[in-house]
Amino acid sequence: MPARKILVTRAEKLRSLLHHHNYAYYILNRPETSDAEYDRLFNELKELEAAHPELATPDSPTQRVGGAVAEGFASVAHRVPMLSLDNAYTPEEIREFEARLQRALPGETFAYVCEPKVDGLGVALLYERGRLVRGATRGDGRLGEDITQNLKTVRTIPLRLRGSLADLAVLEIRGEVFMAHEAFERLNRALEAEGEEPFANPRNAAAGAVRQKDSGITAKRPLEISVYAVSHAEPSPFTTHWQAMRALARAGFKTNPRSARCPDIEAVIGICAELEREREGFGYDADGVVVKVDSLDQQRRLGSTTHHPRWAVAYKFPAQQATTVIRKIDVSVGRTGALTPTALLDPVEIAGATISRATLHNADEIDRLDIREGDTVIVERAGDVIPHILRVLTEKRPRDATPFAFPRTCPVCGSSAFRPEGEVVSRCTNAACPAKLKEGLLHYGSRRAMDIEHLGDAVAEQLVDRGMVRNFADLYDLTVDQLAALERLAEKSATNLHTAFQGSKGRGLARLLFALGVRYVGENVARILATEFGSMERLSRATEEELAAVHGIGPRIAASVALFFQQPENRHLIALLRKGGVKMEEETSAGPKPLLGKTFVLTGGLTRMTRDEAKAAIQRLGGRLTSSVSKKTDYVVVGKDPGSKYEEARRLGVRTLDETEFLALLGRS
Ligand code: IVH
Repeated sequence: MPARKILVTRAEKLRSLLHHHNYAYYILNRPETSDAEYDRLFNELKELEAAHPELATPDSPTQRVGGAVAEGFASVAHRVPMLSLDNAYTPEEIREFEARLQRALPGETFAYVCEPKVDGLGVALLYERGRLVRGATRGDGRLGEDITQNLKTVRTIPLRLRGSLADLAVLEIRGEVFMAHEAFERLNRALEAEGEEPFANPRNAAAGAVRQKDSGITAKRPLEISVYAVSHAEPSPFTTHWQAMRALARAGFKTNPRSARCPDIEAVIGICAELEREREGFGYDADGVVVKVDSLDQQRRLGSTTHHPRWAVAYKFPAQQATTVIRKIDVSVGRTGALTPTALLDPVEIAGATISRATLHNADEIDRLDIREGDTVIVERAGDVIPHILRVLTEKRPRDATPFAFPRTCPVCGSSAFRPEGEVVSRCTNAACPAKLKEGLLHYGSRRAMDIEHLGDAVAEQLVDRGMVRNFADLYDLTVDQLAALERLAEKSATNLHTAFQGSKGRGLARLLFALGVRYVGENVARILATEFGSMERLSRATEEELAAVHGIGPRIAASVALFFQQPENRHLIALLRKGGVKMEEETSAGPKPLLGKTFVLTGGLTRMTRDEAKAAIQRLGGRLTSSVSKKTDYVVVGKDPGSKYEEARRLGVRTLDETEFLALLGRS
């Protein structure tokens, strides 16, 4: 075979393998390969495409990581308009929907499909001969925007269809792009850790991500899609909507497992009630149930108004809202000194939970809604997300209510608060502010930072309030006796706490950098800096230019890190930590660290190595072993006769590995 042909064949082989593994992992939740093996294939393809750009195809899995930066988005005219839906709020209104159908098509009977109405952004995906060629926003329903590069980064959107639908000349699919609650919370925590503004709700986060000019950013946002319609197929192989949805599942899409086919309208009403009861457990925002006539022929004959199809209706869940009064607006101070306002409410029940606080985000949000103490407001609670205020009922405003004056000084230490031009957040300017210090200590000791067990709220508060700790280095000078004097701390816990403090000294440079809370330095950035510079000494001497030259470090991070090391108080703190015995280097000698940042839990017995050997192997490759399974665990290694941790992993959707897969991940087979 000529050399070129071999390359073309290899590239195609890699693409199809990667598409297959992607499908097994993201759609079936049944991974067939280790992450390491996936990465190996992916990198091989990436290198091949880099060396021979003509081998790259628009449906290559390498497109998933994004990178293309758009100037603006081109307009897309939808072939079939993306309409709204008519609403129904009660079972009676659902029956009226059927009565309208019967008037339009006398003598006919109707079967239905019910689907959760996912609250995200509607998109249209165009496939030609099984390849994704375009993805567009809904826009105004007639004209949308071309966001193909961004949608290619969504792992649950196949770039290539499987099975018979791949043969269709044209297939257009509609779906809702959304962010699940857990992913949303994780994203917000990461944004906050890097000193960025969190999103108010999952919908905003998803909307921001799909309209990103830099698809590399979209790729890092955990978006998903739930597909809900085939809007055009050439030729059309389906007679019912349900059939079409099943075909989409076979073609490689994730369809909603809560969708149900109903033989009559009473079954529809039953499903609507059931989904309403279960909505809290969905894990994503849904504001109702979409009820659709199943027969595509009936759909066609019923047609649409300019606003909505006549063959569908949205049963809207009763609002997760309530009216209550704001007693007080409280402003607290976080680790970065950010002043964060919270509304303290007259407790009110919303969908089974008592709500007494709502987030107000920042001063602009308070101004925008003109929120005042004493106001009667509508609060909304969506899923697990923190409740927020929707609007003020100004007609109920007490006469003497005055506009809220956002503090110009820190509510904890009284120093001036500063809000830079163009930013929404004001921050306390006092480096020694006790509120900052307390939050800073909690961050310093958190699991992903210096991992100091037992350093919780109550301890941090006392250490700061009693003046026992004025900076992180003071933690290492505390004696068991001093700790035993803290309230609600027995002798044994004082010893444990002391051991935990001392034990944290050896965590290494990456964790230490993250723990110090330098603005824009999250876990990832800290790891990059530690790997690149190796020691605090070298890092502190790096110029802004040298920092910005490192792959993965942008100008904003470089400026922030350089500034950090210029400040005398930071240099002093580092000197104190060094004197206290805190390790200022990162181990780089021991070879590659493919498992860096990954956490493992072992359950059950391994046959080919002892538990200690497994632990050492994980650590040598940069991974970490923890004792209990949480949402943050990356892998649970399941040996013989596993315990409850296995169940827990399955419940939380944490990836499990059997012994063979584990050995493969370690690079031994
Ligand atoms: S069907 C022509 N099904 O809700 C059919 N829409 O309020 C109209 N949505 O624009 C859409 N889940 O973005 C349909 N299972 C579902 C849906 C759904 C969410 C969104 C969609 C639509 C909006 C209408």
